[in-house]
Amino acid sequence: MDKFVIEGGERLQGTVRISGSKNAVLPLLAATLLRKGTYTIGNVPRLRDVNTMIRLLELLGVKTKWAEENRLSIDTRDAENHVAPYDVVKEMRASVLVLGSLVGALRKATVSYPGGCAIGERPINLHLKGLSALGCDINIREGYVDVTAKSLKGSRIIFDTITVGGTENILMAAVRAKGETIIENAAREPEVIDLACMLKKMGAKIEGEGTEVIRIRGVDDLEPCDYDVIPDRIEAGTFLAACGITRGNIIVERCVPRHIKAIIDKLKEAGMDIVEDGDSLKAAMTRKRPIAVDVKTIPYPGFPTDMQAQIMALMSISKGVSAVQETIFENRMMHAAELRRMGADIRVIGHAAIVKGKDMLSGAKVMATDLRASASLIIAGLAAYGTTEVSRIYHIDRGYESIEKKLRGLGAKIVRRKDESMGH
Ligand code: EPU
Repeated sequence: MDKFVIEGGERLQGTVRISGSKNAVLPLLAATLLRKGTYTIGNVPRLRDVNTMIRLLELLGVKTKWAEENRLSIDTRDAENHVAPYDVVKEMRASVLVLGSLVGALRKATVSYPGGCAIGERPINLHLKGLSALGCDINIREGYVDVTAKSLKGSRIIFDTITVGGTENILMAAVRAKGETIIENAAREPEVIDLACMLKKMGAKIEGEGTEVIRIRGVDDLEPCDYDVIPDRIEAGTFLAACGITRGNIIVERCVPRHIKAIIDKLKEAGMDIVEDGDSLKAAMTRKRPIAVDVKTIPYPGFPTDMQAQIMALMSISKGVSAVQETIFENRMMHAAELRRMGADIRVIGHAAIVKGKDMLSGAKVMATDLRASASLIIAGLAAYGTTEVSRIYHIDRGYESIEKKLRGLGAKIVRRKDESMGH
């Protein structure tokens, strides 16, 4: 197991290039199961979660090959298998995204039932309710969800809660259903739009993606396509927060500024200067300490839950008191206790954290509990006095491409070391 060793206190300076989006590429890879053929997906980030999705596709009969560093060739001509086994799904819940594409392509899917994870219970009842509305029979047996459909029929589906993965699964099944499907209270995230764009490139008829009502008219066949993944908005937001906490001055290249408007607005409120220039952002923090701001996570276009931990790190050295409220996941405050070990003054009450800004954090040994929590501890370590060691960084390798190299490129003192104390 690896850990990061960070010497805090360097102001970030220079240019960083944003990679392709983790949460966009996973459903796009799953979508290649919808139609046999050959695909090339570009701007694919090299991440552990991407490798896990590739492993799953290969178990389903897909062949893959890296054509270039970030370009993946996919051949689904022999994809006949419909079973996503426990070993893969337990590694990554997003494996459940093959449900919709397998049902769309083969009218059957057997997927290991995903368990909860560090940030919450994360049920899939809404995915299953939507598939059942499209005419699927659903059985839960021996830890697996077994979905079969004689035929798929378009339907009107109203989600009780906005669900990104649920919207994506229903989109993928509905493009091959007979007639029209209407998804109401659909997720509006850019990653959902990206999936709809790829499906449209394959010949699907979809309208309304990016709004709360998506209409899908099923088609008899689709065709394979080549497609480039959108930039990762959470990676961009993470670098902006790192710039803010270190009083840095950076350029964030190859991002889509409108995808991160809520994050930019919040960071500006906290005292950062952020200027858009095409697909780049110039960001600087001139104040000694950020202004305390309140944050509430809500589905897109609101402030994303995937940036909550990182902004909490920034707020831990703010001038004032900030309230950070998490409304999407039940258990996404684990980083608060680790930030406290670095001297932060954070009180968690239910799903909210009251953060009293301190002058300074101090380096400590801390442990990453999930992907975004790891990012928040790294950000805190960059600003802290002394040395911070972040262990269990396999979490960060799931979702950030070469984060330490990118941070070093901006002048940070961060190295990856073997963590002897953690075993294997
Ligand atoms: N929910 C249900 N029932 C369902 C589905 C969801 O109650 O059937 C609830 C969840 O428990 C949660 C809320 O709805 O409380 C939202 O969950 P959603 O389905 O939108 O989340 P997801 O699709 O499982 C994706 C991202 C997450 C991100 C969330 C919210 C991927 C692969 N994952 O998860 O990303 O936090 O949307 O934006 O796209 C991360 O990257 O660190 C990460 C966790």
